[in-house]
Amino acid sequence: MASYDVIIIGSGPGGYVCAIRCAQQGLKTAVVEGRDTLGGTCLNIGCIPSKALLHASHMLHEAEHNFATMGLKGKSPSVDWKQMLQYKSDTIGQNTKGVEFLFKKNKIDWLKGWGSIPEAGKVKVGDEVHEAKAIVIASGSEPSSLPGVEVDEKVVVTSTGALELGKVPKKMVVIGAGVIGLELGSVYSRLGSDVEVIEFLDAITPGMDGEVQKQFKKILTKQGLKFTMGAAVQKVEATKTKAKVHYKLRKDDSDHVADADVVLVATGRKPYTDGLGLDALGVEMTKRGQVQVDAHWQTNVPGIYAIGDAIEGPMLAHKAEDEGVAAADTIAGKHGHVNYGVIPGVIYTHPEVANVGATEETLKEAGHAFKVGKFSFMGNGRAKANFSADGFVKIIADAATDRILGAHIIGPGAGDLIHEVCVAMEFGASAEDLAMTCHAHPTYSEAVREAALACGMGAIHM
Ligand code: NAI
Repeated sequence: MASYDVIIIGSGPGGYVCAIRCAQQGLKTAVVEGRDTLGGTCLNIGCIPSKALLHASHMLHEAEHNFATMGLKGKSPSVDWKQMLQYKSDTIGQNTKGVEFLFKKNKIDWLKGWGSIPEAGKVKVGDEVHEAKAIVIASGSEPSSLPGVEVDEKVVVTSTGALELGKVPKKMVVIGAGVIGLELGSVYSRLGSDVEVIEFLDAITPGMDGEVQKQFKKILTKQGLKFTMGAAVQKVEATKTKAKVHYKLRKDDSDHVADADVVLVATGRKPYTDGLGLDALGVEMTKRGQVQVDAHWQTNVPGIYAIGDAIEGPMLAHKAEDEGVAAADTIAGKHGHVNYGVIPGVIYTHPEVANVGATEETLKEAGHAFKVGKFSFMGNGRAKANFSADGFVKIIADAATDRILGAHIIGPGAGDLIHEVCVAMEFGASAEDLAMTCHAHPTYSEAVREAALACGMGAIHM
């Protein structure tokens, strides 16, 4: 048994970042992790491995579609799937070992095993019970299940199984046109699979800017993904090698079947708090099964905090990281802060899609007067040279004050470009502030400046 200032349960981006911040604050810190490697879902079976496969498959797409035009002639590369999976595993390894190094550097103990909280102030790992003045639940999330669909992680898979299929399937059916479905659907489509996405709603990526949704769907369709919209999946029948996806079209209640070699179930995730003993402790939960916390990430049980996917809000690694830092600062007696109004969201397809802040739809609903500045990447020299001119930047600003309220980008490097708008919003900048800032030429970021200009005087290159 050991005594700590803080024990964090879970070593994902929320947990490990929280631990490092606690250590920096001089707190004696331990992290409980039952996986063989640190880093949680994001590093082991989520963000990082999917980005490796997105990168590799995008390179193939470039070779097949754009190399010849640039005068790069020769046979297109063929896919060595085993080697691609090895590259993915190596990428995971570099990252998880990096977290292990940071633990050592910051003198954070890794308590190996699955943790539970027998009572406030105590964490049980295996047969050992450790003491902690503060406990942080950073146990993350798991794929939510769909009635009538049994996952075997071979033929019917979640994102976990989709990252290590035995081979590239001929036909893949993706259930759910959300972030996971479109990122992994893109990977397999580029690698040669015939990909059909079946989505319950009439638009892809729910909650996103309406114009971006339409443009994104158009681009993905051009890339070869097939969409069946307004379709509720009823059940999946699977053998060892094939599956049949039964769905009902909402518009006329008609029944249909889609055949597949692999079915990817990507219909959302839910908080993972199994085995922690929260029920017995009397920790309050929300109606959606999230751990209920106050404005300081503390649960109703004093000394027990929770962050990341286990609590309310977008299930995003960077949101969890920010909460991890803020909870650590709070535990250290300082002021923890997360600006929930400025949390970017990124989809790492090609082109990338990124957003921050309000959409036109939410502002209209709230009766908030706004103006919109838009600029197409068709007017951006760099994007045209790089075969990336499909897409646009949209900046939304307050009609009266010109203060930036949100931004929506579909196009090259969108996931990086969004951050200049995030910084601007954090500083309470106006669209004019952004428009008056010199942007290097030729860069994609000029499209952001042009969209800001379009909120006022007007864009130059449009
Ligand atoms: P999601 O919530 O983004 O999308 C799920 C989709 O499935 C929705 O469009 C929904 O309408 C549809 N759906 C639900 N039931 C259905 C049914 N019976 N038939 C047909 N369609 C149905 O969930 P997703 O993609 O699984 O992602 C889970 C979480 O992981 C999200 O919170 C996401 O933000 C996060 N994530 C973030 C990434 C990123 O930031 N790049 C990457 C991967 C995941």
